[in-house]
Amino acid sequence: MTRTVRINRDRLWAALMELKEIGAYDDEATGLRGVRRLALTDADADARRRCVEWMIEAGLEVRVDRIGNVYATRPGRDRSLPSVLMGSHIDTVAAGGAFDGTLGVLGGIEVMRTLNDAGVETLRDIEVGFFTEEEGVRFGTDMLGSAVTAGRIPIEHAHKLTDEAGRTVEEELIRIGFDGDAHERRPVPYAYIECHIEQGPILADAGVDIGIVEGVQSISWQRLTIRGEAAHTGTTPIASRHDAGLVAASVVVEARRMCDSGDFGQLRATVGSFDIGEGQTNVIPHKATLTVDLRNPDNDHMTAAEQHLAGYVDELAARHGVQVVWGRMARTAVVLFHPGIQDLLAATAGDLGLPYVRTMSGAGHDAQEISATCLTAMVFVAGENGGISHTPREYSNPTACGNGIDVLANAVVRLADQP
Ligand code: GLV
Ligand code: MN
Ligand code: MN
Repeated sequence: MTRTVRINRDRLWAALMELKEIGAYDDEATGLRGVRRLALTDADADARRRCVEWMIEAGLEVRVDRIGNVYATRPGRDRSLPSVLMGSHIDTVAAGGAFDGTLGVLGGIEVMRTLNDAGVETLRDIEVGFFTEEEGVRFGTDMLGSAVTAGRIPIEHAHKLTDEAGRTVEEELIRIGFDGDAHERRPVPYAYIECHIEQGPILADAGVDIGIVEGVQSISWQRLTIRGEAAHTGTTPIASRHDAGLVAASVVVEARRMCDSGDFGQLRATVGSFDIGEGQTNVIPHKATLTVDLRNPDNDHMTAAEQHLAGYVDELAARHGVQVVWGRMARTAVVLFHPGIQDLLAATAGDLGLPYVRTMSGAGHDAQEISATCLTAMVFVAGENGGISHTPREYSNPTACGNGIDVLANAVVRLADQP
């Protein structure tokens, strides 16, 4: 029987509550305090610096790579062996909560403190890290830092991505002082474990705090730019309009119809960004831009959904005499995590007396990228209010968070002692 460690739950909770004040704002829609910490903004920089302080206080060796990913190492007895890595992200969506990503990072730092307090030595190095622009909200591509590290996205491409104001990732990394010099293709870890809130209702419905994650569904993000023609709303006959707004709205409705049809398996389709320009009451919109976010646990259904939508838009554009340009933002296939690591996490939860369920992830995670390089799996933590997330209503209670990080801690120690 391996030794068991228990993290300091109060210390973990205090860190979560402190970090949520960085980028905090009063959210009008919910009446709650939310977190707005878009990647590489001043708020993200402040939160990064606070995490680095905590890492240094825990005696860790910190390094920053060329895409701004930060890693902190606790040495093991044999430094020639590949490390065991924990991590996630601390950037948030524009109106986010305190737990998405942050739990895995602050939880990882808490694991390090716990091992220090208990005087635990491990064979392998253990690392905790956070990855740049996981959300993809600012620069348009999610899991950016981890995808660069895993080699899926070239760093030159990532550096050139721009935000709405035209600022590049590279400029912003330099501006906030996180343009590190460690190579982005880091030494391949032995294993990567990410603890993350579930962001859905499955765990709460099952009455458990812990999920062992089997994999992540396919994600497709595209931006559509629709160009029609501005004209007078009162005088232009209906049949001679080139209404970009109407085409954009039709895409929204078709995306939902596709989900309801059942023709594309368990498709989830969302238009989360929708812009019809100046918004003048008496002018037919001449330009519209929108994003389409598709998720599907089946690769073939995902491809069929993309093809159907492309055909639908072609037909719509021809009918209304508008031009449509598609821009690919992100695309990942279904990722399945390592069965042996899933079993190790399940055994660890069992040994801690924590009931769990196995589940696929609805959301994207850095783990799906890192899994291309090493043994990888994830631990989920239940959320309240149906696991709602990407809103200030996101909330996981201290017990659930503590249980999840206890599983992380003990699984990581087991892995770090594997020869
Ligand atoms: C990450 O939060 C995602 O969009 O799934
Ligand atoms: Mn996340
Ligand atoms: Mn998120």
